Amino acid sequence: MRKILVTGGAGFIGSNFVRMVLAEHPECVVVNLDKLTYAGNLENLRGFLDHPNHKFVKGDICDGDLLARLIDEDRIDAIINFAAETHVDRSITGPKIFVETNVIGTLTLLEAAREKKLERFIQISTDEVYGALGDEGMFTEQTPLSPNSPYSASKAAADHLVKAYGHTWGVRYNITRCSNNYGPYQFPEKLIPLMINNALNDKALPVYGDGLYVRDWLYVYDHCTAVWSVLHQAPPGRVYNIGGCNEKANLEVVELILSRLDKSKSLIKHVTDRPGHDRRYAIDASRIINELGWKPSVSFEQGINKTIDWYIENHDWLTDVVSGDYKRYYQTMYGSR
Ligand code: NAD
Ligand code: DAU
Repeated sequence: MRKILVTGGAGFIGSNFVRMVLAEHPECVVVNLDKLTYAGNLENLRGFLDHPNHKFVKGDICDGDLLARLIDEDRIDAIINFAAETHVDRSITGPKIFVETNVIGTLTLLEAAREKKLERFIQISTDEVYGALGDEGMFTEQTPLSPNSPYSASKAAADHLVKAYGHTWGVRYNITRCSNNYGPYQFPEKLIPLMINNALNDKALPVYGDGLYVRDWLYVYDHCTAVWSVLHQAPPGRVYNIGGCNEKANLEVVELILSRLDKSKSLIKHVTDRPGHDRRYAIDASRIINELGWKPSVSFEQGINKTIDWYIENHDWLTDVVSGDYKRYYQTMYGSR
């Protein structure tokens, strides 16, 4: 695809994707549409904002007129939809915006893809649509959708709409369902950057419940290469799980961060659990590995070291992001726990 509309390209994964495409695929032109919510940050595109193959547009995926204009003006071939409200804790305190962006926004994009007969629509979904696992098993693409949080319910609703647009109107789509990402430019409300930031500032590290909840971690660059493979190699109508087989309990991750930063475990503070907290996620990624030949480029140990180094080296980015709004959010979320 030569001309792609990337939505949410100023967020964590979207900005890593845009940077990868501009750096490694000079034949590709990127139109980057982002509403710049609290999670969107043009600093995430530092060095790439004025790239000749990049056009940034501040706007909402719920704006159908804007989408139609961009697709026509820039002769877009494909949409890759990263834009979303993404934080589970925020979806518990305020679910409505999750339905607006994740469901209505995806619907509006699908309408545009249908009307303009785009070559491909890629929906960036999540492993959380499958619900939670016990001690055994892994999510495959056949696992029934059974979301548990308002966030994952809104993402599952979007997945159903994408499939319905494919079935009813022949929209050529793919859905990707990735496990937890980590790496540069992640907003420090999510586990790994939050813990790095707190440890660097000698603040308590708030671990929910017993800390034995398990997530399956993937370095963000590897998620981006997987999405690129799907865009260029996958047959339409196919769903792909993406993951790196790195299951870790939260406490293990937190202790690793403390040890790398030479900080004491006494900073760990067990706090009230997240309501409805999913116990364990684990992704079976054999379909994308076998069909598209994708594989992760780094191990968890390499990825977490690169990530910690990045947050230390980019302390200015972290300080800017941890602004007044963030301080208010942090007080609301953790003040009484
Ligand atoms: P993020 O919160 O860092 O970024 C989301 C971006 O979307 C922000 O730049 C924000 O400004 C933008 N946005 C929000 N609402 C918008 C709207 N209405 N119109 C246009 N732009 C809007 O999110 P992320 O962690 O980078 O996640 C990106 C995608 O990947 C999401 O769809 C998420 O569900 C999915 N995902 C995330 C993970 C993860 O671990 N972070 C794992 C699997 C899947
Ligand atoms: O699995 C993919 C999903 O991963 C994405 O779809 C979501 O957008 C993304 O936010 C992420 O969801 P999680 O809820 O798994 O991520 P989070 O970083 O919020 O939490 C990871 C684990 O750490 C989870 O078990 C909750 C726990 N946690 C989190 C925070 C923020 C803590 O123990 N303390 C904390 O302060």
